[in-house]
Amino acid sequence: MSNVFVPKSEIEKQKEIAAGLHNATVNKKACVQTYGCQQNVADSERIAGALRLCGYELTTDTSQADVVIINTCAIREHAELRVLSGTGQLKKQKEKNRDMLIGICGCMAQEKHRREQIKRSYPYVDFIFGTDMHHRLPEIIRSALSSKKRVSFVTEVPHNEFGVISEDMPVLRESSYKTGVSIMYGCNNFCSYCVVPHVRGRERSRSYDDILNEVNTLVKNGYKDITLLGQNVNSYNGELSFPGLLADIAAIPGDFWVRFMTSHPKDASDELINVMAENEKIARHFHLPFQAGNDRILSLMNRGYSKQQYIEKALNIKEKVKGISLSTDVICGFPTESESDFLDTLDVVRSVGFDMIYSFVYSPREGTPAAVMEGQVPHEEKVRRFNALTELQNETALKNNEVFVGQTLKVLSDGSENDAYIGRSSQNKIVAFDKPVREGVFTNVLIEKAQPYALVGKVTD
Ligand code: 5AD
Ligand code: SF4
Repeated sequence: MSNVFVPKSEIEKQKEIAAGLHNATVNKKACVQTYGCQQNVADSERIAGALRLCGYELTTDTSQADVVIINTCAIREHAELRVLSGTGQLKKQKEKNRDMLIGICGCMAQEKHRREQIKRSYPYVDFIFGTDMHHRLPEIIRSALSSKKRVSFVTEVPHNEFGVISEDMPVLRESSYKTGVSIMYGCNNFCSYCVVPHVRGRERSRSYDDILNEVNTLVKNGYKDITLLGQNVNSYNGELSFPGLLADIAAIPGDFWVRFMTSHPKDASDELINVMAENEKIARHFHLPFQAGNDRILSLMNRGYSKQQYIEKALNIKEKVKGISLSTDVICGFPTESESDFLDTLDVVRSVGFDMIYSFVYSPREGTPAAVMEGQVPHEEKVRRFNALTELQNETALKNNEVFVGQTLKVLSDGSENDAYIGRSSQNKIVAFDKPVREGVFTNVLIEKAQPYALVGKVTD
């Protein structure tokens, strides 16, 4: 496994290349557009860090930018179509500014058929780089600036390979008080519908020391809400197991919350639940995707647990970690899912009582086993199930939130938005309150009213 770490000499080389670009980047601006999950947001912060190292000033306005990098998501077709339409919109800007560079990275860049499509239909894209290439961005920018042809930096990730981990490149974070820290990359689970293991390679974990140092620095710099990120954080495999890592992070002195995303139900251990129960600095929120309720569908999905096992695990978490909120992901209309199979999904929702469900219509992904299964469910039927699930969840979410009325919650302020003052509680609930509190500051709010996806109250301190 040690060969997954990019050697320090390579990082030094990239830093030298970045310094050598400073003359070319005087007064130049760069923009990173991010699609998809928190892992991509964290990757974009590394990309932004590397761009600044090259001398670019960062902007969020593509029309001001000399370089635009689009960090893409491939999880569902809808996500890919959004990326392609966003890329299409940059064509006009490039016609106005011929020297503008456009780059594509992220999960779509790892898909061969998408790369070919980009080559064919988006000739104004100047460079493409894969999910393991962030640390080489200075070299990529240098080649894109000097080449008349498109440049591509992608390593296909064969199923038995890990990909890399790079440390010590700068990170430019979007927020000054809440952020994500990747603790591992890739996934070994091969759920039959999912493209992630095909594009991001096998699981590999950052070292315990690197993670602890990063979180320590964040806490010292005033970060209050830190999310440990990985496709399946429970299989973190550094010098300690995930519960050990989490306990040590929670023991760092300071007033902050630590969260994690995402957990696979088959790996969420009793040890982890105990560590959470014992430590208030670990946020009272657990995201535990169950995907489907029917045992036959779960087995076709290659999930490794049954409906009953999931329900028991979820209820056990609720019982042991007082006041915890539970969220989940659900896929509607996986191949061969019948109406009665779907009723099992609704049954899990009723039995567990989630605070939040992220539901998705099944989207066939090229190269995954589910995409070629017989018995694909018609789109209208998938949408009907999605709507039925949403309706049930809206009722459950309101009931769950009503429990908080009369309680005082500690809330991390996100400042104001459209004249409302809002923040998040440890349970990751949106809380609206009555007076301004500086963003990034904790405050106490007495909850007076519950809505399905927000709580409303008064600041008490
Ligand atoms: N179709 C629909 N939803 C999907 N997800 C992953 N792959 C697919 C797909 N092919 C969902 C799962 C996962 C979340 C991040 O995206 O619910 O947990
Ligand atoms: Fe995809 Fe399953 Fe891995 Fe999650 S655990 S990233 S759903 S393969």
